[in-house]
Amino acid sequence: MIIAIPKERREHEKRVAATPDTVKKLVALGFGVHVEKNAGAKSMISDSQYEEAGAKIAPDAKTLYSAAEIIFKVQRPLIAGEGDVDELSMIKDGSMLIAILDPIRNPDHVKAYADKNISAYAMEFMPRITRAQSMDVLSSQSNLSGYAAVINAAAEFSRAFPMMMTAAGTIAPAKVMVMGVGVAGLQAIATAKRLGAVVSATDVRSAAKEQVESLGAKFVMVETDEEGETAAGYAKEMSDDYKKRQAELIAETLKKQDIAITTALIPGRPAPILITDEMVASMKAGSIIVDLAVEAGGNCTLSKPGEVVTSDNGVIIVGHLNVPSQLAADSSALYSKNLLNFITPLAGEEAGTLNIDWEDEIIVGTLLTKDKQIVNERLKGGN
Ligand code: NAI
Repeated sequence: MIIAIPKERREHEKRVAATPDTVKKLVALGFGVHVEKNAGAKSMISDSQYEEAGAKIAPDAKTLYSAAEIIFKVQRPLIAGEGDVDELSMIKDGSMLIAILDPIRNPDHVKAYADKNISAYAMEFMPRITRAQSMDVLSSQSNLSGYAAVINAAAEFSRAFPMMMTAAGTIAPAKVMVMGVGVAGLQAIATAKRLGAVVSATDVRSAAKEQVESLGAKFVMVETDEEGETAAGYAKEMSDDYKKRQAELIAETLKKQDIAITTALIPGRPAPILITDEMVASMKAGSIIVDLAVEAGGNCTLSKPGEVVTSDNGVIIVGHLNVPSQLAADSSALYSKNLLNFITPLAGEEAGTLNIDWEDEIIVGTLLTKDKQIVNERLKGGN
């Protein structure tokens, strides 16, 4: 079977779904790998590096898709009306498509996969079980986002992060608050600490306290008996009373901060609002808010997707889109590894074939469409 690695065409996307390292391993499994010309350019990978690893370079998307049965992508293919190329129409009926498909927000795309008898796998639906950790794209990409959020904050900040005692005077360390301490938040804490900031953090999941403290940051949380965590380890939407008390706590803490990094997400729901207009107004001029949840609606009322805005009182609010893509060489390497780790156990005994166990919870969790039907439970109403 041939695996296709297309050039990503969506805006802000610099990543690619294979590296020379993963190409070598896919070829060793018996697959043919075809890479579209210049697919790796924005991740600093040249066509000749792919060729040396055993891939064949396809001159354009049409040639690429017409030869392949398996498509590895970063983002979902463009469909008619979305760009200059209708990628989906070029994918052969009956193919396998593996990508971050964003299916909840794009039900029409999911239907189009079913209509074309494509078996579509959404990597972001990977169950969080030990066996699947090496396939978990949310973790691999969020980790880099958490790091980049702090670097982006530092780039906008008109002060230094570490305390500096110099002959000309002392510079106080920056005060950083991280809201939402999942994978991205924990990496943001670690990065801000390495830069010398004084860091505090908050989350609705009490389990986060120990992790925050082990990184040397202070944990700030509403005192409550209310459980903020689902059985799957994710956050849930909290009661109105909790939200009110959390808002008071954040308002009190935020006034004293220089930088806020927000990462709070609730699966399948809009991101919770944690920083209101009034809270922004209470912050010092030159303070920074980096809203990593901006694509899910944002944690700050003033953040704008894809923009850096300055509030009336001089607070800079960063709403960059697709933050992992800023570190395309690393995010592509980790994402490609996630895909390789996903396909490796599916390889059949005969080289270059697949042998899929349709009952396996990794397949059940990620598979969206099969035999022209939408089969995923999360798309049928549940989460
Ligand atoms: P996420 O990206 O879904 O959300 C980010 C963070 O925001 C979470 O910590 C969440 O609790 C927090 N949050 C949501 N609403 C909030 C609110 N109103 N106020 C403050 N914080 C709020 O989370 P992520 O990074 O996907 O991690 C979720 C959980 O999954 C964590 O417990 C993490 O350790 C766990 N995990 C497990 C893995 C595995 O077992 N394979 C892999 C990666 C993460």
